[in-house]
Amino acid sequence: MPRRILVSRGQTKTKNNLACLILAAGKGTRMDSARAKMLHPLLGVPLVSYPVERALELRASPIVAVLGFQRAEVEKALSARHGQGTVTVAEQAEQKGTGHAVRLGLAALRQWEGTVLILYGDVPLLSRETLTALVKKSRGAGKLAIMTAELADPHGYGRVIRNERGAVAGVVEHKDASPDQLRITEVNAGIYAAPAAFLRQATARLSPHNAQGELYLTDIIAKAATSIGVVSVSVNAEEMAGINDREQLVAVEKILCRRIVGHWMKHATFRDPDAVVVEASVTIDQDAEIGRNVVLRGRTRIGAGARIDDGCILTHTDVGAGAVLLPYTVATEASIGTNAKVGPFAHLRPGTELGPDVHVGNYVETKKTRLGRGSKANHLTYLGDTIIGEGVNVGAGTITCNYNGYEKRQTIIEDGAFIGSDTQLVAPVRVGKRAVVAAGATITEDIRDGALAITRAPLKQIDGYADRVAARYANKAAPKR
Ligand code: UD1
Ligand code: CA
Repeated sequence: MPRRILVSRGQTKTKNNLACLILAAGKGTRMDSARAKMLHPLLGVPLVSYPVERALELRASPIVAVLGFQRAEVEKALSARHGQGTVTVAEQAEQKGTGHAVRLGLAALRQWEGTVLILYGDVPLLSRETLTALVKKSRGAGKLAIMTAELADPHGYGRVIRNERGAVAGVVEHKDASPDQLRITEVNAGIYAAPAAFLRQATARLSPHNAQGELYLTDIIAKAATSIGVVSVSVNAEEMAGINDREQLVAVEKILCRRIVGHWMKHATFRDPDAVVVEASVTIDQDAEIGRNVVLRGRTRIGAGARIDDGCILTHTDVGAGAVLLPYTVATEASIGTNAKVGPFAHLRPGTELGPDVHVGNYVETKKTRLGRGSKANHLTYLGDTIIGEGVNVGAGTITCNYNGYEKRQTIIEDGAFIGSDTQLVAPVRVGKRAVVAAGATITEDIRDGALAITRAPLKQIDGYADRVAARYANKAAPKR
């Protein structure tokens, strides 16, 4: 298996004389959603991107997506993920069927000749190997290659009709099938490869005389059977799974996730492989240990021997070798140095950079903050827009007051400084090297290297106070203490 299962932002390097059409114009009625089915995330990636990633892996160019429902939003998602112009869009304003969609897609291919691969936007688990085999088979014979599968429950799928010699004669949609045909368990996966010229010809002459009043792409199969010929590639039921409703969406997500985890499990330990979410873009180094209910998203990397305890949620976060993340650490766009120790219940927000051997403890929140080697903030602290040197100790309850209601301002704490508990650092402010800030201070000016800063009001003790107050309220019940 490749190190990264999805190739993101891939660009076609060398062409493969292969064009790809992705049919993705449907609303996805069975999702019962305000959002187009193609935009629903499957393991962090919009559904429509899966066939695009496959097409890029096969070095197909051009790649045309036929879009209709929420076209603008789907197009935006495609540019965001694959780069502007990677995918050409053909609009199908009204969804008149898969055959109509291909006709419009071909129009966007203009004079293009060669093999065309047709993928459905809602079939995300196809492997590169299966698609390569399909393209090869079409190309080698100059025929229409279709993908079929044997299903225990073929309900809803188009059935593959074969003649007495076993050759494919056509596909009949479930809604149009006779009782005899409904008993056929070999189904059409809806993925094809064919010469462009044949597709142009065949889709130009489709008619909507069927149960759904649509232009069926599947009608080209019978046409090919009596002209250029049909070859088939069989695929297993899991690979051809289509996503039509939310139940299928999460079922496929589980399969994808389990594949990814299975890959990393060869050299890392997952305490409960079925209770984690690991996106395809994550990398996990040797001897890492991943606890239960951990979620690893985006460009997250887990370094060698690092331990990610139960319930941690990491997004675009780099964890150094040997680091330990105690339970329920949440980190986004953060980097954690080697052998650092974080959590439990720490919140590392974007721009957090923890150096080697740093300790960040419970209920500590950081944002745009760097802590140098060996520095510690162990309890109940907010550090925002802060640069902290090496060997600094930040006491419990320290707060950087980085925002004055208009702008964010910076705090600098230099090497070896000691910040006492319950300190407020009112930014912009700098605490010098080895300076000591006494507990409970409000620091509003720069502190010189090696100095003690203390902002305490003098302590006063008044003897006998409790008795005097008690006497004043002698005829009332004593306060509960
Ligand atoms: C289709 C096949 C069926 C096959 C099944 C496999 C046809 C007529 N039937 O049925 O034989 O067993 O897939 O999953 O092709 N789309 C458009 N424009 C349209 C209609 C559909 O872009 O006008 C897109 C949809 O967004 C979707 C894909 O084409 O991504 C498939 O359409 P769908 O309606 O789901 O086809 P099925 O009924 O599943
Ligand atoms: Ca479908």
